[in-house]
Amino acid sequence: MQNFVYHNPTKLIFGRDQLEHLKNELPQYGNRILFVYGCGSIKKIGLYDQVIGLLKEMNVHTFELSGVEPNPRLTTVYKGIDICKQNDIQFILAVGGGSVIDCAKAIAAGTKYDGDVWDLVTKKKEAEDALPIGVVLTLAATGSEMNSNSVITRWETNEKYVWKSPHVYPKFSILDPAYTIYVPKEQTVYGIVDMMSHVLEQYFHTPTNAPVQERMCEAVLQTIIGTAPLLVEDLENYDLRETILFAGTIALNGTLSMGVQSDWGTHHIEHALSAVYDIPHGGGLAIIQPNWMKYVVDENVEKFKQLAIRVFDVDPTGKDEREIALEGIKKLRQFWTSIGAPERLSDYQIDDSNLELLADKVMDGGEIGNFKKLNRDDVLEILKMSL
Ligand code: NZQ
Ligand code: ZN
Repeated sequence: MQNFVYHNPTKLIFGRDQLEHLKNELPQYGNRILFVYGCGSIKKIGLYDQVIGLLKEMNVHTFELSGVEPNPRLTTVYKGIDICKQNDIQFILAVGGGSVIDCAKAIAAGTKYDGDVWDLVTKKKEAEDALPIGVVLTLAATGSEMNSNSVITRWETNEKYVWKSPHVYPKFSILDPAYTIYVPKEQTVYGIVDMMSHVLEQYFHTPTNAPVQERMCEAVLQTIIGTAPLLVEDLENYDLRETILFAGTIALNGTLSMGVQSDWGTHHIEHALSAVYDIPHGGGLAIIQPNWMKYVVDENVEKFKQLAIRVFDVDPTGKDEREIALEGIKKLRQFWTSIGAPERLSDYQIDDSNLELLADKVMDGGEIGNFKKLNRDDVLEILKMSL
């Protein structure tokens, strides 16, 4: 294991009917807030009215920023920063999925930064401060509700980057599975793929001797694999939603990567894909991840064999290590296909015309990945395997 310090300051408030906690949590941060949300789903599920009702009860002076796009845009972040600066906002409340939360994080740090917030997203500068933010989550997927990451897209130049700062951990996150009940099937599947991909990115780490972390990853994966097929057939089942919601948070709140160096190669490639084609993050991951696995399998066949046997119940009898490893990868692909995830870039009408451009975008920060360092040719090959 590598040495590590683990500190996650987000207060997690999980379960049914927990929205009332806003009344305890909000007042300590001031009474001028920016309420950030997406393109309307929170109105459909009645959450908008509930939040506004509580804010009125608390006599909070509320400003609103709506219309945060899936794959949130820099232009929307700018709008939020303007509102915060002009109205002396003290707190940001993000109500929605990962995109809304990520946008709120960028607004929070951008408001406290004198230059262009894009400097923070592109890591030219580090955030030194941020407005405090709180979250009411409506979609199980990214883990943004309990981590310090944010992913922002500058659509005009087709750039999408992850940045992070300890200043943007949410102060609290309210997770009520009931708010996720009406997430459509397709979006539910994207979320499931995303959280599984997060676990896999951490499972394929570099250090040795991390048996606790590996077993935790396997437990989360097995739980998702056991739950997801039931959920896609029974979308309004509270217990299944609850399990998936919790899995999504655990998958990327730092618990699984203590003491290890995760990979993130698949995520890098996907971010370039959605920067150019604006496809859903989970859809892109479902296409790329198994091909990344096939491409890097020989880096550590033993590790892939372990995943195949422990998580995908591959029967090792009469097979060599590599056959077992490849069967595990095949089973991951079959599992994602069985719940309705896309398999190939052509499922999104993406052909080979932009592969060179995509590879350039993936590489613009240099080599990617840790389990295996990938150069431009490697990335191009994985993209070709994904057509
Ligand atoms: O915009 P609204 O109307 O809210 O609709 C959203 C959106 O269309 C809808 N939705 C959300 N909650 C719903 C609902 N529909 C019905 N009922 C509900 N309760 O779902 C759609 C997708 O929402 P979005 O927030 O974009 O999804 P997700 O949570 O998957 O976030 C994706 C973004 O997060 C980034 C991705 O790259 C992408 O930009 N990521 C962020 C990470 C992080 N901060 O740690 C890590 C991830 O790897 C990822 O890169
Ligand atoms: Zn992800």
